[in-house]
Amino acid sequence: MKKLLLPLAIAAALAAPGIASADEAAAKSNGCLKCHSVDKKKDGPAFKDVAKKYKGKADAEAKLTTFLSKGGKVKVDGQEEDHKVVKGGDAAVAGSIAKWILSL
Ligand code: HEC
Repeated sequence: MKKLLLPLAIAAALAAPGIASADEAAAKSNGCLKCHSVDKKKDGPAFKDVAKKYKGKADAEAKLTTFLSKGGKVKVDGQEEDHKVVKGGDAAVAGSIAKWILSL
């Protein structure tokens, strides 16, 4: 049942305005877009700025995959917090989102 629901959730998110790809839909369903957007700074940096920061760095994808599956510390309003990870710490989902962010 779970296997069937995920594609449906992605299809529903894709139908939403402004959602351009399955990876963006995954970012949305994992709550990432509450703090990030593709091209505007919110609580977190714009994903395009993250892509810029990591441009040309060979280990960028591996680093972000770990960050998004295992977590890391970030500063929110001057306070150190644990950054959110994808649901269940799923490395495949984290890797896919990491790749997408770096492609922006
Ligand atoms: C509660 C708000 C919040 C949520 C939810 C959130 N983030 Fe973040 N994220 C931040 C903040 C704040 C930073 C930047 C912290 C800093 O610069 O130290 C950040 C940084 C990042 C970075 C850059 C890391 C780096 O090394 O430069 C990436 C990539 C990222 N987030 C992706 C995601 C993804 C994908 C999700 C969903 C699984 C997500 N974020 C959910 C607040 C959030």
